[in-house]
Amino acid sequence: MHPPTLLHFFETQQHGVDHSQHLLSVIGDIAQACKLVAREVSHGALLGNMGNVGHENIQGEQQKTLDVISNDIFIKMAEDNPYIAGIASEEMEHTLEFSAKAGGFLLVFDPLDGSSNVNLNLSVGSIFSVLPGPDSEGPLTEQDFLQLGTQQVCAGYALYGTSTMLVLTTGQGVNGFTLDPDSGEFMLTHPAMRIAPEAQEFAINMSNQRFWQPPVQRYIDECLAGTQGARGKDFNMRWVASMVAEVHRLLIRGGVFLYPLDSRTKGKGGRLRLLYEASPMGWLIEQAGGLATTGHKRLLEIEPTALHQRVPVILGAQEEVELLLSYHSLKDPTA
Ligand code: F6P
Repeated sequence: MHPPTLLHFFETQQHGVDHSQHLLSVIGDIAQACKLVAREVSHGALLGNMGNVGHENIQGEQQKTLDVISNDIFIKMAEDNPYIAGIASEEMEHTLEFSAKAGGFLLVFDPLDGSSNVNLNLSVGSIFSVLPGPDSEGPLTEQDFLQLGTQQVCAGYALYGTSTMLVLTTGQGVNGFTLDPDSGEFMLTHPAMRIAPEAQEFAINMSNQRFWQPPVQRYIDECLAGTQGARGKDFNMRWVASMVAEVHRLLIRGGVFLYPLDSRTKGKGGRLRLLYEASPMGWLIEQAGGLATTGHKRLLEIEPTALHQRVPVILGAQEEVELLLSYHSLKDPTA
């Protein structure tokens, strides 16, 4: 028997869950946009789209041609969908409003996360978060997008790796769908994804070690000490520099991911963006049984103050994140 397709799964398999036709339409169109981005990414150097556009985006990062192409794909999809009232993107300073669709959902996304990996032919992805639209009539404001992560109605990512996958939640667990290149359909291949509470693998950019704060220094030092140290076991390390690939690995084989606060990014609040990186990934991880925090606060309970706000991110296996939380709560985390 064939596994169910994405929409068939949401229409039929999550019994007792009210997935409105409007939300299903949005999910279907996000999946469609991800297929188009996958297609662009898979052309590699053939279409001459591997370079930079020659200026920085709002984040101060070199914008890649594929960032712009992917962003345009998401904008067009959202404009055409009857139930998306407005969007915010990593690639755009301001939100976009589709005024004819007042009352619809708000879509926040990073159209091509980890795009520095594109030229290397390594994994990249798209991250998205669907939020309820405002109750009130009238033009949307940026404020309407500044919602707690707990308000999300759907969140997920597409991973453009050796295969293209769509992994998402609507609040009833996490399910992964693989794009069948023959039929062009996303098929359920990874039902009910879970993260084991214990772990022996961590992901962090070790080159930033000297900038970290004491709780993270201590945690990583203890992991590196292996069987000889306080943890009494050896740890493995991975760093792909693509958050989507990193979170996907956590969902497949566990572990913990950190992009913590450090002395360089402190003034900015952190490295990763709250609304379209930390919040959707945090919800996915929680839905898979893990935890997601800044070290002091649950990611989903951070009150956003700006569209492109950055936050420290620690997420993954419950026991590891709890240990990190306990180190952050100590007056002297080295003790
Ligand atoms: O947000 C952008 C991003 O590419 C993430 O996907 C990734 O986790 C991180 O930045 C990589 O950071 P660094 O360049 O420090 O390795």
